[in-house]
Amino acid sequence: MKKIAIFASGKGSNMVAMKQAISDNRLQASIALLVSDKPKCLALQKAKELGIPTFSFHPKNYKDKLEYETEILKKLGEADVNLIVLAGYMRLIGETLLSKYKNRIINIHPSYLPQFRGKDAIGQALLAKAKYTGVTIHYVDEGIDTGRIIEQEMIQIFDDDSRETLENRVHEVEHRLYPKVIQKILEEL
Ligand code: GRF
Repeated sequence: MKKIAIFASGKGSNMVAMKQAISDNRLQASIALLVSDKPKCLALQKAKELGIPTFSFHPKNYKDKLEYETEILKKLGEADVNLIVLAGYMRLIGETLLSKYKNRIINIHPSYLPQFRGKDAIGQALLAKAKYTGVTIHYVDEGIDTGRIIEQEMIQIFDDDSRETLENRVHEVEHRLYPKVIQKILEEL
């Protein structure tokens, strides 16, 4: 059984969707670790409720990224992780993790990249009065949402969309697409 580590800083809805996909046998994997840089976030709380092993840390308690990523690396090794799955992890991945997990770190971004890179992509799309946005799953490199694209899906933005209605549709797509893509990648590893 392949093992994944999920990195999250927020609500953890994608993690819950992955757990559900595992229960439904759409995803043959186990979630070996949830890593979070926000010890109070909902994702961490939900992971604990779901019995997922966790590692959380306060970046400010470390000298630098090298120091906390070295600790993450140790935890990933102990958990024997095959693939790192970012789901709302609000930090750039550094060289320490990138070099050890080359082509084995993926991210999901709530836009049709290369449009609306970076923070609050849904807000950016609404502000730009765009007609479409989407969801993109891509490999992680040293840039912000710049790695090679694996899969994308477009989502129409309606005139009467609020942030909430659009966000809900984005999440629906994410929760369906991410487990499917992870399964495919794990099969090829
Ligand atoms: C998702 O919309 C994802 O695309 C973005 O952060 C959000 C995480 O949501 N990178 P959740 O924490 O999985 O609910």
